[in-house]
Amino acid sequence: MNIILLGPPGAGKGTQASRLEKERGMVQLSTGDMLRAAVAAGTEVGRKAKAVMDAGELVSDEIVTGILSERLDQPDVAQGFILDGYPRTDAQARSLEDLLASKDMKLDYVIELVVDEDALVDRITGRFSCAKCGEGYHDRYKLPKIPTICDRCGAEDQFKRRPDDVEETVRNRLCEYRAKTAPILPFYEAKGIVRRVDGMAPIAQVNADIEAILDGR
Ligand code: AP5
Ligand code: ZN
Repeated sequence: MNIILLGPPGAGKGTQASRLEKERGMVQLSTGDMLRAAVAAGTEVGRKAKAVMDAGELVSDEIVTGILSERLDQPDVAQGFILDGYPRTDAQARSLEDLLASKDMKLDYVIELVVDEDALVDRITGRFSCAKCGEGYHDRYKLPKIPTICDRCGAEDQFKRRPDDVEETVRNRLCEYRAKTAPILPFYEAKGIVRRVDGMAPIAQVNADIEAILDGR
C-alpha cells in the first residue's frame, strides 16, 4: 500500500505517518525530514534549502524531487510508503507519476487531512520534539511527564524546536499551501483515489479513520 498524506502545515501528517510506520511497517517518506537532515549535515542541498525553509517558502521542485527519487530507490520502500510533504506543487505531482511509473510502483490513496486553519498556528508554534528519539510534544496538548526528560527515551534537556515554527513563518507556509499545494487535489480526484479524514479529531481517532481507509472498511 502506497499513500500520500496531504494537508497544510500542522495538519498532523508527520504525527499520523509515524504511527502508520510503527503500526503497519510502512515507510514514512518526509521530504521535510530529508531536507532538515541535509541542512544538519551541511550538504550542498542543505545549504541551498536552509534560507528558503526558514522563510516558510518551498524549496525548488528539482532539489526536492531529486532527494525523493534517491530515497525511492532504497529497498525498504517496497514494504509500502507514506509520502508526508510531497508532492507540494503541480510539477511535483507530475514528477511523482513519472518516478513511480519508472520504478513500477503505484499510489493507492491520497488521504487529505481536513483541518480548521485557525487551529494550525497554535498547534505548530507550541510543538517541540526530542532531539534524540524524535518524539513530538506540545506546550499544551502533550507535555512530557517530567518537564526536562523525554518520556520515550529518557534523554535529559534534549528538547528542540524547528526554526520555521515561529508565527510569521507558519503564516507564510500556510499561504504556500493554499497557493501551490491545495490546487493539486483535483489531479488526484480525477483518478478517484482521494479520501478525506477529519484532522481536527483527536490523534487516535484520526489514526483509526486512516486505518479504516487502508483496510477498505
Ligand atoms: P515539512 O516538514 O513537510 O512541514 P509542513 O508541511 O509545514 O508540516 P509540519 O511538519 O509542520 O506539520 P504536520 O502536518 O506534519 O503536523 P504534525 O504531525 O507535526 O516542510 C517544512 C519545509 O520544508 C517547507 O516549508 C519547505 O520549505 C520544505 N519542503 C518540504 N517538503 C517540500 C516539498 N515537497 N517541496 C518543496 N519544499 C518542501 O503536527 C503538528 C502539531 O499538532 C504537533 O504538535 C502534533 O502533536 C499536533 N497534532 C497533530 N495531530 C493532532 C490532532 N489530531 N489533534 C491535536 N493536536 C494534533
Ligand atoms: Zn526522546
